[in-house]
Amino acid sequence: MKKILVVFGTRPEAIKMAPLVQELQKYPDEIDCRVAVTAQHREMLDQVLQLFQIRPHYDLNIMQAGQTLSGITVRALTGLEEIIRAEKPDLVLVHGDTTTTFAAALAAYYCQVAVGHVEAGLRTHNKYSPFPEELNRHLAGVIADWHYAPTALACRNLQAEGVAREKIFITGNTVIDALLATVRQNYVFAEDDLNKINYQSRKILLVTAHRRENLGPPMHSIFRALRALVREFADVEVVFPVHKNPAVRQAVQQELAGLPRVHLIEPLDYEPFVNLMQRCYLVLTDSGGLQEEAPALGKPVLVLRDTTERPEAVQAGTVQLVGTAERQVYRAAARLLSDPAAYRSMAEAVNPYGDGRASRRIVQAVRYALGLSGERPTEFAFLPLARP
Ligand code: UD1
Ligand code: UDP
Repeated sequence: MKKILVVFGTRPEAIKMAPLVQELQKYPDEIDCRVAVTAQHREMLDQVLQLFQIRPHYDLNIMQAGQTLSGITVRALTGLEEIIRAEKPDLVLVHGDTTTTFAAALAAYYCQVAVGHVEAGLRTHNKYSPFPEELNRHLAGVIADWHYAPTALACRNLQAEGVAREKIFITGNTVIDALLATVRQNYVFAEDDLNKINYQSRKILLVTAHRRENLGPPMHSIFRALRALVREFADVEVVFPVHKNPAVRQAVQQELAGLPRVHLIEPLDYEPFVNLMQRCYLVLTDSGGLQEEAPALGKPVLVLRDTTERPEAVQAGTVQLVGTAERQVYRAAARLLSDPAAYRSMAEAVNPYGDGRASRRIVQAVRYALGLSGERPTEFAFLPLARP
């Protein structure tokens, strides 16, 4: 029997680790799967735990209003080291690029416990963009013993940094596993406001924003572009589930409160959120996860950032990097609202990030690493469809 401790702390980590936890639980005779959450996020984490019916064995409950990076790091590191010492797992699994990810990898290293890094190898090569995620992911990768790279490009990034190929598994991204299990035809929202929207006659712009490097002037300029879009296009409606970060909320209030056809709503639970994405016209976001989900649903994405560690969908043509300048954001969105050919060329479902079987591959790779299986799993290969 091998013991695996899965650690996460924020909404996106939870969404992407949930299918993996469920898959690990399918091997009760071989694997004792334990879950520890830092709760770097609280409400936004809890809704995902509830949806996927995951009851953590440990909950550090570290979130504080307006928390600092050092504060998160210290509280997560201290709490996780204690848990890892007590549990003595054979492997700690961490996900992605948050401060929880980095702290969990470091805590495992201090306890000399092996680390597996899920969603490994994404890079912008700019340590301040995304901040602090680029370095969090890199540092977790330096510590990790096993790397689950979602794509071939992520694998190449790791190899370029000297990681041995046999320590890397190309798996696809578990976000697609979660997505495919959650999007449904004829989904009915529990939120009345969302049911009332006429998705046939209106063009819904789904907006999210939360990146630390966008706080302040960049966010204000993005929001002014949204204001102008609503003013110019009478058939546009903005739905913006606003992140819980008070700094984001303040900027949103200043620029967008009270405008007609702008719905500022609480963060949505994952299920209504992805089903809303399926009905929207266009996604404007600085999120990482949305850049992976929206292409799978055939929704064009304008990325409100100067860099992306997820260039695969940009290359495939469904994601465009537009930055945060008001004019750029406005122009890119206005073009997709008024030029059907431009829209059609971006609204093509592509799935460079996975095929819904990433968790299965990762669990097989974990079993291989722990000596429970002698076979390396077959890797994920994205075969791009020919574009017209
Ligand atoms: C964090 C991650 C970021 C990830 C994002 C996903 C770090 C440094 N940042 O950023 O990589 O992309 O999560 O959303 O790891 N808050 C609540 N309730 C919640 C969640 C957040 O009130 O459920 C508020 C709190 O005031 C908190 C603040 O949001 O202090 C910021 O949370 P934090 O985790 O520090 O940063 P995020 O921007 O959410
Ligand atoms: N998401 C959600 N509700 C929302 C907004 C986003 O469930 O109101 C989901 C979304 O589907 C994606 C994830 O949260 O899977 C993205 O999280 P976020 O943008 O906070 O973080 P990032 O991906 O940038 O790290």
